Amino acid sequence: MAVLVTGGAGYIGSHTCVELINAGIDIVIVDNFYNCKKSSIDRIRALVDRDFKYYECDIRDKEGMDKIFKAEKIDSVIHFAGLKAVGESVEKPLEYFDNNVNGTLVLLDVMRANGCKKIVFSSSATVYGMNNISPLTEDMPVGGVTNPYGRTKYMIECILQDLYTSDNSWSICLLRYFNPIGAHKSGTMGEDPNGIPNNLMPFITQVAIGKRDHLNVFGNDYATHDGTGIRDYIHVVDLALGHVKAVQKVEKDEGCFIYNLGTGKGYSVLDVVNAFEKASGVTIPFEIQPRRAGDIAICYSDPAKALRELGWKAERGLEEMCEDSWRWQSQNPNGYPD
Ligand code: NAD
Ligand code: UD1
Repeated sequence: MAVLVTGGAGYIGSHTCVELINAGIDIVIVDNFYNCKKSSIDRIRALVDRDFKYYECDIRDKEGMDKIFKAEKIDSVIHFAGLKAVGESVEKPLEYFDNNVNGTLVLLDVMRANGCKKIVFSSSATVYGMNNISPLTEDMPVGGVTNPYGRTKYMIECILQDLYTSDNSWSICLLRYFNPIGAHKSGTMGEDPNGIPNNLMPFITQVAIGKRDHLNVFGNDYATHDGTGIRDYIHVVDLALGHVKAVQKVEKDEGCFIYNLGTGKGYSVLDVVNAFEKASGVTIPFEIQPRRAGDIAICYSDPAKALRELGWKAERGLEEMCEDSWRWQSQNPNGYPD
């Protein structure tokens, strides 16, 4: 039996595939390679001692997905496939709802038709919206999202919860990620954004490698220790290990479970800049800019529920996250090869 990993060639998916195989779990990857390179599959292969299959397929392709389910013995699904750029989602809402929401509906339909009712879904801390006070717990109200990307995550959470209500034989795990950064220790896998990075760490590493001349720090007048925004950065390998625990949970228990995957610690933008400079030995020039629209001051998790129910907690600190991000970027200045 195998776990089908949608979006398994992407940033979080590829790291998760390595940890699933390390844990002795067979995988099958489905990706349409819209936001990643095929060489990421080779990089996964080079790090594991067991082979796996991958399919180039869009999750919205019902026939294609059905063929994969018929050809493989799929027991459960980890569903990463989706578009994730907040700004782009404001410009292209229909594309985001189609890819993320419609894509998930097609996937669930094909799963049901093939008797597969176990799914782990990549949600986001963005569903907590602007009004909850950190540390964020899973029982806080969700849905006050400010952009179409966030709304797709919230809508998919609702769809999965309604599905479980309609049929209690599903096992569903909604994982709310905080801010994944870092890379595999080998320096062969990491985050490879297209164009100008939206997120903090890839922007910092591109400044460090000389692709951008400085970092823009969005706001230094928040009510935080140095005025810059605070987030809960989590090492992508810790996040990947959380998925191993989550898939074992849905294999074992029926229910609809929700877990934060974060460290529970918040760091400011300038804390991250300082930690990165220490880890890399490279100075990061920065300029203070106005606040970015839609940003909140402070966002970090209470990760206690995942420890209690999954036996999972993040082990890697900010220093290691910075060292590993830098190793990846410095060894692969242009990301994955074509
Ligand atoms: P990513 O873009 O690197 O990975 C997503 C993968 O899905 C890509 O390889 C892409 O080619 C594939 N994909 C997209 N649409 C597809 C489709 N219709 N059919 C098949 N494949 C498709 O992104 P990531 O950072 O690895 O994120 C993975 C998931 O986690 C996403 O759902 C994202 O929204 C969610 N998430 C990410 C973060 C983050 O900061 N990276 C935070 C919270 C949640
Ligand atoms: C962003 C998204 C969120 C998504 C998450 C992970 C927004 C408003 N939110 O979260 O929906 O789930 O990414 O993909 O886009 N910063 C700078 N300069 C930069 C980039 C970021 O100062 O060039 C600051 C931000 O203001 C913030 C912190 O760094 O305080 C982290 O930003 P980012 O990495 O974009 O993550 P989030 O804003 O938490």
